[in-house]
Amino acid sequence: MGNAGQRWDEFDPDLYHAHNYAVLRDDDQEILEGVRDFFATFAAAAATAADRPLNGLDVGTGSNLYPALSMLPWCERITLREHSASNVTWLENEVRSYGTAWDPFWKVLTQERAYLGVDDPRRALAERVVVEQGSVFELPRSRWDIGTMFFVACSISEQREDFHRASRCFLDALMPGAPFAMAYMENSRGYEVGEIRFPAVSLKMDYIVESLEATATDVKADRFVGAEMLREGYESMVLVRGRTRRREPDGSTTAADA
Ligand SMILES: C[S@@+](CC[C@H](N)C(=O)[O-])C[C@H]1O[C@@H](n2cnc3c(N)ncnc32)[C@H](O)[C@@H]1O
Repeated sequence: MGNAGQRWDEFDPDLYHAHNYAVLRDDDQEILEGVRDFFATFAAAAATAADRPLNGLDVGTGSNLYPALSMLPWCERITLREHSASNVTWLENEVRSYGTAWDPFWKVLTQERAYLGVDDPRRALAERVVVEQGSVFELPRSRWDIGTMFFVACSISEQREDFHRASRCFLDALMPGAPFAMAYMENSRGYEVGEIRFPAVSLKMDYIVESLEATATDVKADRFVGAEMLREGYESMVLVRGRTRRREPDGSTTAADA
């Protein structure tokens, strides 16, 4: 059960959204707060160092806009890279003027001052987002300044090799030193969207963090368990944030300068 050959084009974005994001869950809120506080420092520093607004990337967006919203204050452009045709159609429509379900998510973000600088997040997202159909495995290298990839590396295949390749391709698509956030379902046994079962690879938080050692620096990971589990078949939600390492011409990596 690898990534290829799954029924991604039949992924139902409305059902997925209704189950996961129609209401802001306490675990998602904690994740959102963690990303917000991290980007308030590190995205701000990246924009200052670059002396220009950033280009953001969210991979495997599905019907979740909160990773993109978390990058909004610093980005003039945010690419949503999604493999599934049904999710791409849903996203193209949703970003034109996103639904009110995202307002509580934005409210959490505005507890940090930088987000208050975005006058009209609905319009800003519509103007700055580009939805692109494509695979994480075919991303160009060193293209984006900041990135998010939520519940993707662990949730697109049963194979560890796909997990490692997805993480590596995502991080390689970012510039050296770029801040990023990734979220995972810990020890997931797969998930259903409607009638269709999608695969997952069962991983512990420590394994996820260790797997990033060669490609990321300043890595911080937290585990969240909500008052109610989202579904059966996982242990917690894990948020990892960090910065990509510098890649040397010989393929080795070092921590990028702050
Ligand atoms: C569990 S969902 C996560 C959706 C969303 N990011 C979230 O936070 O809820 C996994 C997503 O990965 C997408 N996906 C599957 N294979 C992919 C690939 N090779 N490249 C990019 N995205 C992929 C699926 O279509 C789906 O939207």
